[in-house]
Amino acid sequence: MSAASSLTYGSYLHIPELLDCQKPLSGRHDEMLFIILHQTMELWMKQVLFEIDAAQEMIARGELVPAYKGLARVSRIQAVMTQAWDILATMTPADYLGFRNVLGTSSGFQSAQFRTLEYRLGLKDASFLKYQEAGSAEQRAMGHALNEPSIYDGTLAQLARAGFAIPREVLDRPRDQAYVPNEAVEAAWIAVYRDTDKHWALYQLAEKLLDLDDALLTWRSRHVLTIERIIGMKPGTGGTAGVAYLQKTLSRRCFPELWSMRTKL
Ligand code: HEM
Repeated sequence: MSAASSLTYGSYLHIPELLDCQKPLSGRHDEMLFIILHQTMELWMKQVLFEIDAAQEMIARGELVPAYKGLARVSRIQAVMTQAWDILATMTPADYLGFRNVLGTSSGFQSAQFRTLEYRLGLKDASFLKYQEAGSAEQRAMGHALNEPSIYDGTLAQLARAGFAIPREVLDRPRDQAYVPNEAVEAAWIAVYRDTDKHWALYQLAEKLLDLDDALLTWRSRHVLTIERIIGMKPGTGGTAGVAYLQKTLSRRCFPELWSMRTKL
């Protein structure tokens, strides 16, 4: 019998192992949903990172059109992740308070994949590294994404390759630093959007990237609103001010000039 013919649904997908990963600590009914929502989001983040890695490689090779497919998939996954907040909204403050004490200081704030995703999209902030165990695989993955070019860095290199005057300080910027919006970059995007027929590939790429930024902000907004429903203005388990902190994250833009240039068109 070949290996393939002995394969079953459960063995191929490692279903027993997957279904053994939910370990509620409180014995309260709602903790299972809390765990499964986090775990499914982590799985979707894994797929999103996988697609973004592939898209970044294509963009680096100048293959913009093939990159669209993966980026379109990412924004569909993000839409599913946002919809998941509707399920969380069925959890009342009383339900959550029933098991909040077992969570200690753990929080989504410490999600290494979420920070890796932020880094990949260009939201570089090295201060999040300290929330991972020193030398752990999670910290290494984050460190790698922090020090590598983001998808936006790769896109700006393509703008330069297409003949736009992108300054050297932008193209050679320190990868681990927060991106600083630049007027020449904004001017290049304005030119792309003013003559879409001529710059179709870059224009399409810009819209696909904006889809990702838009979807991330939508995900953040629904998270903070749902959280306010559950914990009000109380501090978070991760040690931040809670809703007040999360509201501030709504101003984070991965591709700032793709937003700012719209006013000037
Ligand atoms: C009852 C459910 C939830 C509550 C009360 C909650 C609350 C919070 C709070 C208060 C923060 C701010 C950091 C802190 O002080 O803890 C936070 C951050 C975060 N949460 Fe949630 N959360 C919940 C569910 C989820 C789920 C299901 C996910 C999915 C992975 C998630 C992902 C995140 C992420 C990624 C952050 C960091 C956001 C940032 O810093 O930009 N949360 N959460």
